Amino acid sequence: MTCNRVLAATPWALLALLLSTVSLTAGAEAKAISAADLRAKIQYCQDCHGPSGRGTVGGYLPIPRIAGQTPEYIERQLLAFAHSMRDKNSSLGITSAHSLSPAMRLLLAAHFSGLNPAPIGQGPRNLVATGRTIYEEGVPTDNIPACSGCHGPSAKGMNKIPRLAGQLDSYIVRELTNWSKVRGQNPLKAGASAPMKHIAHNLSAAQIAALAAYLSYLKN
Ligand code: HEC
Ligand code: HEC
Repeated sequence: MTCNRVLAATPWALLALLLSTVSLTAGAEAKAISAADLRAKIQYCQDCHGPSGRGTVGGYLPIPRIAGQTPEYIERQLLAFAHSMRDKNSSLGITSAHSLSPAMRLLLAAHFSGLNPAPIGQGPRNLVATGRTIYEEGVPTDNIPACSGCHGPSAKGMNKIPRLAGQLDSYIVRELTNWSKVRGQNPLKAGASAPMKHIAHNLSAAQIAALAAYLSYLKN
């Protein structure tokens, strides 16, 4: 398309042209990252999140599973750490997220979302059936909606709604028990964490334990 023809085009066509240029730029930047740089960064993430990204337990903090997570959610959380929207005590996560370029975030999100190792599955087995019922049906008397309505019937998540299947029992308990202390810390940018705030507050410790146990064994 020549310059004159672009100028003569309708505003919608111009917008489409601009958008395609933006995505081409992101793609070009991603290609500019060498395979060795990407491998080194993946290795760095794996040192904490485990070789297959399925999380690690037993340390100071549970380090969550990121394998099979939706790419949109991974990218969003890396930004959330960089913008101090998540718990400042997990400063290791924040430090590592600051140094990532947008293109590197994109490649790392694509890499980890493509993995699907078996879950570690550490939750108490006797709570699984109760957890499943709450996940699928909610608890209307306690004002708790069905989790499946947003996170999906098999907890695979979608776009910015995270996958929960196979997530660590101890990590889910920590997030849901402390939601207002560990999420949405930057009030100007807390929007995406908002839907979970009331749900987390309405859940009892016993309900959280059951949900976490159920999700910790779920495979996809
Ligand atoms: C030094 C250990 C460490 C390293 C290295 C590390 N992380 Fe993390 N990461 C954590 C911890 C701990 C958390 C949980 C923080 C919390 O509970 O608030 C976390 C959380 C996350 C989350 C949010 C998960 C969720 O379910 O909300 C994502 C995404 C993530 N890390 C991706 C990465 C990527 C990609 C890398 C490599 C660039 C990386 N991390 C490197 C320790 C680490
Ligand atoms: C209205 C939609 C909606 C419903 C219903 C919902 N969630 Fe969520 N949930 C979200 C969104 C959006 C996020 C991402 C929040 C963020 O980005 O900080 C999330 C995040 C989470 C997280 C944090 C995941 C992580 O990797 O850190 C957990 C755990 C969670 N939800 C559990 C539940 C459970 C259990 C239920 C049912 C009792 C439930 N959710 C119901 C929308 C929902």
